[in-house]
Amino acid sequence: MLKTDELKESAARAALDLVTDGMRLGLGTGSTAARFVAALGEQVAKGLNVVCVPTSEATRAQAERLGIPLTTLDETPQLDLTVDGADEIDDRLRMIKGGGGALLREKIVATASDRMVVIVDESKLVTALGLFPLPVEVVRFGLMATMRLIEAIAAETGCHGAITLRPGPGDAPFVTDQGNLMLDCAFGNIPEPEVLAFSLKRVPGVVEHGLFLGLADLAIVAGKGGVRALRRAGA
Ligand code: A5P
Repeated sequence: MLKTDELKESAARAALDLVTDGMRLGLGTGSTAARFVAALGEQVAKGLNVVCVPTSEATRAQAERLGIPLTTLDETPQLDLTVDGADEIDDRLRMIKGGGGALLREKIVATASDRMVVIVDESKLVTALGLFPLPVEVVRFGLMATMRLIEAIAAETGCHGAITLRPGPGDAPFVTDQGNLMLDCAFGNIPEPEVLAFSLKRVPGVVEHGLFLGLADLAIVAGKGGVRALRRAGA
C-alpha cells in the first residue's frame, strides 16, 4: 500500500471509534471516505446497528454492496455524525471540498448532522485555502454569464485565477449527481474565505460552492507521526 493510502486508512479507522450502536450517519465521498465506509461495512457485518445517508451515488453503491442500511434525509432529517474527507483544511477547520464532485450533497448532509468529522492525511493541511482549485457547482443555463459574474465577484474579494469547466468523459462536461455542472476556480489563495463564500451565494447560477466553513467539529489527521485530532474552537 502507498504511504498516503496507509494514512487515509489510519484516519478512517480512527473515525470508526466515534461510531456507536444506533447512530444515524452521513457517509462522505472520495477515497478517504470510502475507506471509512469499508471499515464501517466490516462492523455492520459483525452486528453494528446504524442507518446512513450517502453523499453521492458512488458512496451509495459502495454502502449497498457492503450491506450498510441506508436511509434518506426525508426519512431521517437529522443525523448524529457525518464522516467525510476534504481537499484542503486549515487550522480553523475551514475546508475546500468538491474535488470528487459531490459538494452539494456533502454540504446538505453535513449541515443536517450534529457533528461533522473530517478524515484526512496530513497533505491536506494548509495554512491558507485556495491552492486546490475551488469547486463551484452551477446550473447549465447561463453558464458563460455565471462564469463572468463569479470572476468579477471573486476579484472583488482578492481572488484571481482561471475558472474552468470541469471536463467529464469524452468531450462532455462533468455532470454532478444533481445534474449540474462544476467549475474549478484556480485562485491559488483565498484571502477571506467567509467573504468569498457569502459573495458566491449571491450569484443566481451558483447552486453551491466548495467552501465548508464552520461545519467541521473535528479533524482526524493521519501523518508520519501518527494520528492526531484537531478541534474547531468553540465546537
Ligand atoms: C468529494 O466531493 C470531495 O469533497 C472529497 O471529500 C474530497 O475530494 C476528498 O477526497 P479524497 O479523500 O479522495 O482526497
